[in-house]
Amino acid sequence: FSAFLTDNFGRRHNYLRISLTEKCNLRCQYCMPEEGVKLTPRGQLLSTSEILTLARLFVQEGVEKIRLTGGEPLIRPDILDIIAELRKLEGLKCIAVTTNGMNLARLLPKLKDSGLDLINISLDTLVPAKFEFIVRRKGFHKVMEGIDKAIEMGYNPVKVNCVVMRGLNEDELLDFVALTEKKPLDVRFIEYMPFDGNKWNFKKMVSYQEMLDHIRQQWPNLERLETGHTETAKTFKVPGFKGQVGFITSMSDHFCGSCNRLRITADGNLKVCLFGNTEVSLRDVLRSGAPEEELLQIVGAAVGRKKKQHAGMFNISQMKNRPMILIDTTSEMR
Ligand code: GTP
Ligand code: 5AD
Ligand code: SF4
Repeated sequence: FSAFLTDNFGRRHNYLRISLTEKCNLRCQYCMPEEGVKLTPRGQLLSTSEILTLARLFVQEGVEKIRLTGGEPLIRPDILDIIAELRKLEGLKCIAVTTNGMNLARLLPKLKDSGLDLINISLDTLVPAKFEFIVRRKGFHKVMEGIDKAIEMGYNPVKVNCVVMRGLNEDELLDFVALTEKKPLDVRFIEYMPFDGNKWNFKKMVSYQEMLDHIRQQWPNLERLETGHTETAKTFKVPGFKGQVGFITSMSDHFCGSCNRLRITADGNLKVCLFGNTEVSLRDVLRSGAPEEELLQIVGAAVGRKKKQHAGMFNISQMKNRPMILIDTTSEMR
């Protein structure tokens, strides 16, 4: 495995997340401020060929999984071409997307034909009016349609990401669990994390332990499942249900020790951790015409600066970072 992608703690980064756009057709409260964010001028965003050049390089060094994110990746006009080109990369085992689901039902057949392997969909409520409040746009039924169609088309697992916020949707945990009875979904409850401009505070966060205790009152036989060691979620199942439920515990019990992820932002920065602001511009190196070896050296140096951990309650709430929309989540701007 490439020395450039191995950090000082022995973590091998074989999973790359590429943000395809800073724009989104929703404006989720936890992801961006109501007034939106300042978008990077077009010329400073990675072009499709730059994205593919970087992807090729990372795959050559050992990346096996690429997740396309945003903003909302499915609003990128050439999303299908990007997937089809990635599909040609030898050594790349998995192409995934994290989407808000708004355009999913419409695009699914083509996404599948282009070679998309896995889909994660953000959905924080099962109540249409609440959906409009949280994401500041309409569209609940479109998202549900996207989820159902993904299942129908054989995607497995279809993961649903639910950011749990006190006073907003914490009362819906059991309804989300109930959704896994008949649908083979992997619902993941995510501890609310602080990002620039998202008004996070400790009281709005519902911890893993609290969620689990609440669900166990109704489902005492909830069963813990084995998961791969680089998984972000701790996973459970109600015996007999088709789907499962997981918890992403970045705040109360982080999983930095097994992190295998790197990120490339839409403006071309390599971000070695979701949190903090350790970034280096790969775009500038590419545009300088530097040889591949030099690009790899720069990647290696950034990976070498990766900290042992960044997640966890006391760390990230103090750290300077970007708003989530400018990292890799899937909400509008303009
Ligand atoms: P899988 O490839 O299915 O494991 O996806 P994922 O869970 O890594 O990614 P997804 O885009 O679905 O994100 C789900 C949640 O996990 C979001 O809240 C992400 O911010 C969080 N997450 C993703 N990557 C990391 C990471 O490197 N560190 C931490 N702490 N959280 C992460
Ligand atoms: N805390 C936790 N998860 C978040 N996401 C976006 N913002 C936050 C936050 N503040 C999630 C979205 C999306 C995934 C990529 O990140 O739900 O599914
Ligand atoms: Fe919501 Fe994702 Fe759009 Fe952020 S990028 S507003 S999390 S749908």
